Amino acid sequence: MQNWIVLGATSGMARPFLRRLAIDGARLMLAGRDMEELETLAKDCKLRGAAEVEVIAFNIRDTAAFPALIDKLAATQGVLNLACFVGTMPEQSAIDADPMLIDEVVTDNFTGPAKFLSLLAPVMEARGEGVIVGVGSVAGDRGRVGNYVYGAAKAGFATYLSGLRNRLGRKGVHVMTVKPGPVETRMTEGMKLPFMAKPEQVAEDIMGGIERRANVLYTARIWYFIMMVIRAIPEPIFKKMSI
Ligand SMILES: NC(=O)c1ccc[n+]([C@@H]2O[C@H](COP(=O)([O-])OP(=O)(O)OC[C@H]3O[C@@H](n4cnc5c(N)ncnc54)[C@H](OP(=O)(O)O)[C@@H]3O)[C@@H](O)[C@H]2O)c1
Repeated sequence: MQNWIVLGATSGMARPFLRRLAIDGARLMLAGRDMEELETLAKDCKLRGAAEVEVIAFNIRDTAAFPALIDKLAATQGVLNLACFVGTMPEQSAIDADPMLIDEVVTDNFTGPAKFLSLLAPVMEARGEGVIVGVGSVAGDRGRVGNYVYGAAKAGFATYLSGLRNRLGRKGVHVMTVKPGPVETRMTEGMKLPFMAKPEQVAEDIMGGIERRANVLYTARIWYFIMMVIRAIPEPIFKKMSI
């Protein structure tokens, strides 16, 4: 039996991913802040074929609650998998006006998920199987004027996931880093961004990446090539650009 705990289950990107897992008959644990929304999602997943669905109150900033959830995960029967969609992206101008917001951005996008995964790592190591999916962003590939604090947090998370992959890969646990370009969700509401993907397409890409054990997955695929070019732009030129 495949167990999936999904952190940030209410995320626009997580929803179609959950639907896919439900159709596959997985046992789901939906973790998030909005219990009412989680209950609605749980009903939908059950109707679509999930073997079992449980909702779990979860806040990435509440580290004191992590150990109890880790114990619960350690007790699950079958293969344990995790996907983390948690993230926040305040306007860069709001962060520039109040730099104290940096702590929250770094907690939500990097250190919160990293703390949870570091507590889970020994459990996964002992099991010797399973998949961890961590959602970062193309924003982590280069510091841009428009969202460099969010980008820095995602870059930190990507580097963390790379090390975790190195650590857990040799124990039979696969860690996949997902780097979405712009996706049509609540996070990008009202924004006009290039090559916007649908969350359904992202979910399909993630399922495919899990199947073929991708290490780093750019979604939509075009972002792999776009970021290759953006990373290659020399700093003296890049610093004058507003992309
Ligand atoms: N949309 C994009 O263009 C895009 C591009 C690249 C990467 N990403 C990343 O993709 C992931 C999913 O984002 P999305 O686009 O699906 O946006 P979203 O719908 O806003 O999802 C963000 C998720 O994070 C959860 N969350 C925020 N703060 C939390 C906290 N303190 N504790 C627990 N959960 C918390 C939200 O829960 P609530 O429902 O309770 O608010 C929500 O489930 C994020 O990591 C985001 O940074 C998004």
